[in-house]
Amino acid sequence: MNRTHNNGQLRMSHVGDNVELIGWVAKKRNLGALVFIDLRDRYGVTQIIFDESFEERLKEVKNEYILQVKGSVIERSSKNPKMATGDIEVQAKDFQIINTAKLTPMIVADETDALEETRMQYRYLDLRRPMMQENLMTRHKITRSIREYLDNLDFIDIETPYLNRSTPEGARDFLVPSRVHKGEFYALPQSPQLFKQLLMVSGFEKYYQIARCFRDEDLRADRQIEFTQVDVEMSFLSTDRILEIGEGMIAKVMHDVKGIDIELPLRRLTWHEAMEKYGIDKPDTRFGLELVNLNHIVADVDFAVFKNALEAHGHVKGINVVAQAQEFSRKKIDNLTEIAKTYKAKGLAWLKVSEAGVQGPIAKFFTEEQMNTLLTAMNAKENDLLLFVGDPKYEVVCDSLAAIRNYLGKELKLYDPSTFDFLWVVDFPMFEYDDETQRYYAKHHPFTRPKDEDIDKLETDPENCLADAYDIVLNGFELGGGSQRIYEQNLQERAFKALGFTQEQIDSQFGWFVEGLQYGTPPHGGFALGLDRVAMLLCGCDSLRDVIAFPKNTSATCPMSKAPTPVAKAQLDELGIGVNKNESTESK
Ligand code: AMO
Ligand code: AMP
Repeated sequence: MNRTHNNGQLRMSHVGDNVELIGWVAKKRNLGALVFIDLRDRYGVTQIIFDESFEERLKEVKNEYILQVKGSVIERSSKNPKMATGDIEVQAKDFQIINTAKLTPMIVADETDALEETRMQYRYLDLRRPMMQENLMTRHKITRSIREYLDNLDFIDIETPYLNRSTPEGARDFLVPSRVHKGEFYALPQSPQLFKQLLMVSGFEKYYQIARCFRDEDLRADRQIEFTQVDVEMSFLSTDRILEIGEGMIAKVMHDVKGIDIELPLRRLTWHEAMEKYGIDKPDTRFGLELVNLNHIVADVDFAVFKNALEAHGHVKGINVVAQAQEFSRKKIDNLTEIAKTYKAKGLAWLKVSEAGVQGPIAKFFTEEQMNTLLTAMNAKENDLLLFVGDPKYEVVCDSLAAIRNYLGKELKLYDPSTFDFLWVVDFPMFEYDDETQRYYAKHHPFTRPKDEDIDKLETDPENCLADAYDIVLNGFELGGGSQRIYEQNLQERAFKALGFTQEQIDSQFGWFVEGLQYGTPPHGGFALGLDRVAMLLCGCDSLRDVIAFPKNTSATCPMSKAPTPVAKAQLDELGIGVNKNESTESK
């Protein structure tokens, strides 16, 4: 099938040329006896003009038919500056229909009124929309740039298995039943973590893989059950060098894909600083509205909420919403209170600073001196709105104020949405205490190395033991994370002990891996970047679903193929599996 050009190619310099184009009918308009057709392919759209001699034959041509058109390029009388090919059009001399199309259930154009469910059911049509094509091409550019970068630094791409044992990333596993070994299961990898570490033991030194990962967790806009990591591991390098390699990769991607040169080295914030200033370990640093720690400032204030929080060794923090006192009605403040409550805060206290003084339900609890101290601590001026949360739990104070901060940042348009503000968050705690099970869990994973100076805290002060772990954060999203790993056997044993693993648990869960660490493991570390998230943010999308060709919807199904589905009894029998009918989903 011949075409001389694609539909995004023709310019004024082609005027007079005879061309042949192929594409989908994006739009057909009749202007008297003249017919205009926009012909679309992945490169763009070209307007074709048909004179009256085609009138009859064109009657059968509908949207999304594929046409092959022969014609000559002419200058357009009314140019369209919004189209790359808008200076010209092609005067048709002949055409043929390559294929017809059923009436599509959705408008195939950037501006579509289709519901997302419809878009996902007819994903192949959705992906025909220029915007979606652009997104997937951007994603391709990102991976190409990353491969180039890592290749130049001597990293080698090695595949690791999908069918293996569970890896310890902390989510639920997807299990795959074994037919040969009835009653036994493979687990799809939550990440290639253990394999990439073993590749270091093997001496590969610099590994990468653009790897699919599987985690059975609740879906969100920035979470899919299967997603892709740029997974990297290296031996004999300091944390500084690992971060340098990581940020160099991001810088090259930004340069190659967006034409933006970001400033290196990236800013680093310790986990503790991030929590104190932003209440979250993935802060959106495009705007201020920083949290202020008020523990000492309000220690003597006679307000029960603050008092109770502090007596329980809790915290009180505030945010100064500068110059917004008049803007925030009672209703708007109630709305903020609701946000705080979804993050388990019991309420949201507030004050408004005005010429007449400070007003708000908690003003009466402050003496004049206490109020002045507060205003100074929060740098508060006339017309500022001050918000407070107190709670016995640090996470509740942080989570609720961080959510309010993010909400206000967006609502008050405190940043330019087209900016990219990258940073590293470093020095994460090694452990996280879980109230429910009353034990410590690894915040990253059990092979993460404590900071050298904190190794002894493994036993003596686990709460304050910091990990040599880091996340890269962009505009409020965790793009990736990693760590130095434990490479000494005795340190690994100490870490397992601190995590409360019994020898039996270690042997059954990681025995095969720990065995491998005993044969000359080099010091090593690495990171993994969430490729889908990088693509989402670089494309300016709000959901990972817009940068994944065939994603799952929020209820973890594929509206197009209807997966997951029940399977034939024979298939289950072969696997030796029975389904508890009461719990099986109704058939679709
Ligand atoms: P971690 O679990 O932090 O680290 O994952 C790394 C990055 O993967 C992305 N990500 C996801 N993206 C979409 N949907 C999900 N469900 C999802 N879960 C994670 C995030 C995250 O930052 N093995 C370690 C890395 C290492 O230590 O080298 C790991 O998997 O962008
Ligand atoms: P109350 O004394 O319950 O009427 O609360 C007085 C104010 O304190 C109200 O504005 C509540 O929303 C607020 N408040 C209640 N609990 C908290 C809390 N944990 N942190 C901050 N403010 C709170």
